Amino acid sequence: MTSQDFDFGSFAYGFWRYTEDQFDLACKMVEAAREAGIDHLDTADIYGNESGIGAAERMLGRIAREAPALLEGATVATKGGIVFGTPYNSSKEYLTSAVDKSLGLMGVERIDLYYIHRPDMLTHPADLAATLDGLVEAGKLKAVAVSNFTAAQIEGLKAYLKAPLIAHQIEFSALHIAPITDGTLDQAMRHDFAVPVWSPVAGGQVFSGESDQAQRVRGAIEAIAAKLGRSSMEVALSFVTTFPARTVPILGTRNPERLREAVRAKDLILDRSDWYDIYEAATGEQLP
Ligand SMILES: NC(=O)c1ccc[n+]([C@@H]2O[C@H](COP(=O)([O-])OP(=O)(O)OC[C@H]3O[C@@H](n4cnc5c(N)ncnc54)[C@H](OP(=O)(O)O)[C@@H]3O)[C@@H](O)[C@H]2O)c1
Repeated sequence: MTSQDFDFGSFAYGFWRYTEDQFDLACKMVEAAREAGIDHLDTADIYGNESGIGAAERMLGRIAREAPALLEGATVATKGGIVFGTPYNSSKEYLTSAVDKSLGLMGVERIDLYYIHRPDMLTHPADLAATLDGLVEAGKLKAVAVSNFTAAQIEGLKAYLKAPLIAHQIEFSALHIAPITDGTLDQAMRHDFAVPVWSPVAGGQVFSGESDQAQRVRGAIEAIAAKLGRSSMEVALSFVTTFPARTVPILGTRNPERLREAVRAKDLILDRSDWYDIYEAATGEQLP
């Protein structure tokens, strides 16, 4: 399984914002996502935590039982390694039990894509690699990836891992541009990782944020949207997808109309001048 073999699609749909009582809404949104061509769903063991650990995974298990057609042909990614109050644990003992719990809650025999949600500084990369390789060899994980790692932490892990590391899930948006210059996206292009992108419209702040940066970025996006006859949502997402890494925005909206609007960004590639206008608005400085 290499990152080219895994079908990440152009967009993914994320479960972070759900609580377990939103089963009907989740079904409606998964249906809208699948109709819009999204086959990649993203969750984590900690999502839906207002109603307890595992709530979002449990909800996916319920969808699989009660509305299996909604998940037919979909790939479901989940994550582990965050422990509220600790805050991180990537020990063999912990991850093995976390994976077993995720398998049980989602009602699957194998997880399509498993991320280490955040780096545990107290786990040696050789030990983490051995744990992940063991879980792949045991048939519990089809593919492995990481989220929110530094480029150096990924190099450390890759030095020991036998299974291909196929993706790095990161925060990236017109309001969060650090991955462009901190080595994260350079590394993803160097190794050809897929880059599933969380909060690609900064949780809505691109459209409603009041910081100076948000207002500058919104002004740039609105001007480009008006010029191109596209929506601000499309332009905001295309800031992420125009970047030449294999970015895959994970949409977090629970509004079907917004989701349909978002996927229209698929055919929009910003020209250099427009992309740099947004970049400069984000930094607040003109490039030399
Ligand atoms: N790996 C990690 O550490 C990590 C961390 C966070 C998230 N994630 C993943 O990334 C996914 C997406 O994250 P996200 O939900 O932050 O993504 P997002 O798509 O940037 O934000 C979605 C939020 O923005 C709001 N929004 C969207 N368009 C808007 C508009 N035009 N005006 C006002 N509000 C608007 C949505 O509200 P409506 O619902 O009303 O549209 C929703 O609350 C998560 O579900 C999860 O799978 C991963």
